[in-house]
Amino acid sequence: MVGGPSLAGLCPLTTLRTPRLELRRWQASDADGFAAMNSDPEVMRWLPSALTRKESDQLMTQIDDGFASRGFGVWAAERRDDGAFLGFVGLNVPRWELPFWACVEVAWRLSRAAWGFGYATEGAREALRFGFEDVGLERIRSWTVPENRRSLAVMDRLGMTRLGEFDHPALPDGHALRRHVHMVLERTDWQAAR
Ligand SMILES: CC(C)(COP(=O)(O)OP(=O)(O)OC[C@H]1O[C@@H](n2cnc3c(N)ncnc32)[C@H](O)[C@@H]1OP(=O)(O)O)[C@@H](O)C(=O)NCCC(=O)NCCS
Repeated sequence: MVGGPSLAGLCPLTTLRTPRLELRRWQASDADGFAAMNSDPEVMRWLPSALTRKESDQLMTQIDDGFASRGFGVWAAERRDDGAFLGFVGLNVPRWELPFWACVEVAWRLSRAAWGFGYATEGAREALRFGFEDVGLERIRSWTVPENRRSLAVMDRLGMTRLGEFDHPALPDGHALRRHVHMVLERTDWQAAR
């Protein structure tokens, strides 16, 4: 592959399907769309910074390494009817020492053109099912800055409840995005709502 991250050691795919999405392992052909999404200031508005091409490629490699070692991660979200790469939805184990370390979060990032169709919620529901049923997790968390209305709306639609707020350890004191809302979904609550 020229100019993209190495995807050497690709494990057998764990592909999840929803009515409109395929959540699949990453392919070299995702690198351009991923970089375009990660450089879009609107998509990255509530994240610390937009990513350069190199940073985006490194993140893609890091995500794929997580699949290889863990068997799950944030999947590449592909629209089933036309094969378009939409972004990612899935489960992530944060690398930072959070107050509630170790944990699994449900996470999403879609290209701007894919907002407003329900794709994030649809994909995240399947990621939660995978996390609770197939991985056997007891709880799945999520967090974002209080201003990220769209992301918080996804968490609400998923039935997550608010635990409180915390300061993100990856960001320095005084950083405008340091404060985060902390949401959780317990396995028992997820089962009860099915
Ligand atoms: C967070 C993010 C994924 C949310 O995307 P989204 O499209 O708003 O969320 P959903 O996929 O759940 O779609 C919900 C919207 O689709 C609409 N919709 C249209 N067709 C739909 C359908 N068939 N089914 C469900 N919803 C549908 C809903 O009415 C809702 O619209 P609204 O925003 O006007 O209320 C997106 O804004 C994003 O990628 N942001 C940047 C990255 C980011 O901040 N990630 C989180 C960091 S912690």
